[in-house]
Amino acid sequence: MGDRNAQGPNPGKEAAGVAAADLILDGMIVGLGTGSTTAYTIAELGMRVNRGLGILAVVTSYQSQMLAIDAGIPLTTLAEHPVLDISIDGADQVDADMNVIKGGGAAHTREKVVSHSAKRFIVVADESKMTGQLDHFVPLEVLPYARELVTGTVTAMGGEPQIRLASKKDGPVISDNGNFIIDARFGVIDDPASLAKKLSTCAGIVEHGIFTNVDEVYVGMNDGSVEIRTLDQR
Ligand code: A5P
Repeated sequence: MGDRNAQGPNPGKEAAGVAAADLILDGMIVGLGTGSTTAYTIAELGMRVNRGLGILAVVTSYQSQMLAIDAGIPLTTLAEHPVLDISIDGADQVDADMNVIKGGGAAHTREKVVSHSAKRFIVVADESKMTGQLDHFVPLEVLPYARELVTGTVTAMGGEPQIRLASKKDGPVISDNGNFIIDARFGVIDDPASLAKKLSTCAGIVEHGIFTNVDEVYVGMNDGSVEIRTLDQR
């Protein structure tokens, strides 16, 4: 995996990320996702907050916390605001039924908690993320104590598990929650909901990166236009 903190400009990501900011209205409590696409949303919301938009945000990672603070967006917590009006987040891959794989940035556990705390969950992604069927590796956040158990369980399920190694640190990536990430390849995933259910029952897996709760996808095209997809449009 490349250095996610050193990605260049991407017109599709920028278009989707900025367009989704239009969904945020005065007074809303907003979930802020993680990654380079959501970073555009956070920057845009910061400009709107500085012009008078009144929102509170719940972050999903140290990355989104730092970006939101830099942008001047006031923060709150799920403890104070357990129900969010909306959450906006990126994706690693999106299928035709709007099932999504997330966790390329190791933030999917908090992203999932925030998305399930929101009345409306919006994914922002550039067109390269769109696919008919999911075949991206599934990030698993795993208790370090359970690494061997989870490796064995995933292999028995027909998957190919690989511990995620850090790029600017020796050894494994450590998530914001202090856990390992195991990336598991399952080939083409015919039934994402079923795989999600199985992974949810595995001891030692804190959370997996399959999301089946997306309401809308903002797809940013390379020419800067944005297509909004909902399940009704399939
Ligand atoms: C973070 O762990 C991920 O779920 C990201 O939201 C996802 O990898 C999308 O990232 P980009 O917007 O940087 O492509």
